[in-house]
Amino acid sequence: MKVLGISFGRKNQRCDIMVKEALFAAHEAGAEVQFINTMGMRIDHCHACDYCSRCREKGDVEIHCVLKDDYHILEEAYLDCDGVIIAAPVYAVGIVGQFKNFLDRMCPAHDRAEMIETNKKREAEGKPLLDPRYFKDRYSAYISVGGANTRNWVALGLPMLHLFDFSLVQKCVGHVDAYDQGNTGSPVLDRELMARCASLGTAVAGAIGRPYDEVTTWAGDPEDDSVCPVCHCRLLNINGTTDVECPICGIWGKLEVEDDKVHVTWSPEEISRARNTPIGIYEHYHEIQNMIKICVPKLTDPKNAEFIKKETERYARFDEIVGNK
Ligand SMILES: Cc1cc2nc3c(=O)[nH]c(=O)nc-3n(C[C@H](O)[C@H](O)[C@H](O)COP(=O)(O)O)c2cc1C
Repeated sequence: MKVLGISFGRKNQRCDIMVKEALFAAHEAGAEVQFINTMGMRIDHCHACDYCSRCREKGDVEIHCVLKDDYHILEEAYLDCDGVIIAAPVYAVGIVGQFKNFLDRMCPAHDRAEMIETNKKREAEGKPLLDPRYFKDRYSAYISVGGANTRNWVALGLPMLHLFDFSLVQKCVGHVDAYDQGNTGSPVLDRELMARCASLGTAVAGAIGRPYDEVTTWAGDPEDDSVCPVCHCRLLNINGTTDVECPICGIWGKLEVEDDKVHVTWSPEEISRARNTPIGIYEHYHEIQNMIKICVPKLTDPKNAEFIKKETERYARFDEIVGNK
């Protein structure tokens, strides 16, 4: 079993140290470990060119991105691992953009529902199946690293890291919100923090090879600090009623307030349709298929096509129309 650690922070600084601490523990638990720091890598953002979808549609065994940069190094390392631990710095309240670039190129291109449906078609047609690594269940753990001493300044750190789970149908077994690094100085000075990071490595290594529903433990930060029972983050979407939604997992709960205590109850049905579950990815898959059914005829209708062409020309001439040189 192989555990991959990725740091999106500076070389030999806080993210590196914390993810390596987790990897030491994973190694201790019997895992082969690999560490990658991305600071010197070029990982451009997804150009929405659909090249990856075309690889799938034309029968390729491997799905690739057309952009030629260092993304492929991370993609290959990820596909070879059985568990992943990611540490990334918080920049401007959210996770550093390079991580989101990696996620945007990796996750939708390897969407499990798309992969399953593609293989069903190929099986029926007797065509070569997709790389089996795309169907591997993997465990994840996340470390969000922030300098500020209030959680307010790292509010979107962990939630954004958890977005890495859903298209890949990955199960997260723990996370650490390593904020207040400005006061801590170096994470090695906070032994309790380092122990929480190590517990992530032990948890990922211990989970590998077991079915998802057997793994119910949570490592790193205490569970009682969280709201959502799936991602264990503290964010909620509120719509003015007592029905509240976890924006990361897309599941609904019932909010109750008693005295000054707030509690959210989540039904087993909602938990089972979280974005990173087979039900969740298929909900999104069907949503996309239904949109295609509406959108394609709309765009190909000759009247609409002519109107869109005429209108689009006006937008293409924007600078000329507003008098910009
Ligand atoms: C451009 C920039 C923006 C940052 N914004 C935040 C922030 O909003 N909240 C926070 O807690 N820390 C912020 N930081 C501090 C980093 O998260 C912190 O230095 C962290 O330790 C960097 O990870 P590293 O040491 O592994 O490189 C910011 C740092 C930079 C360079």
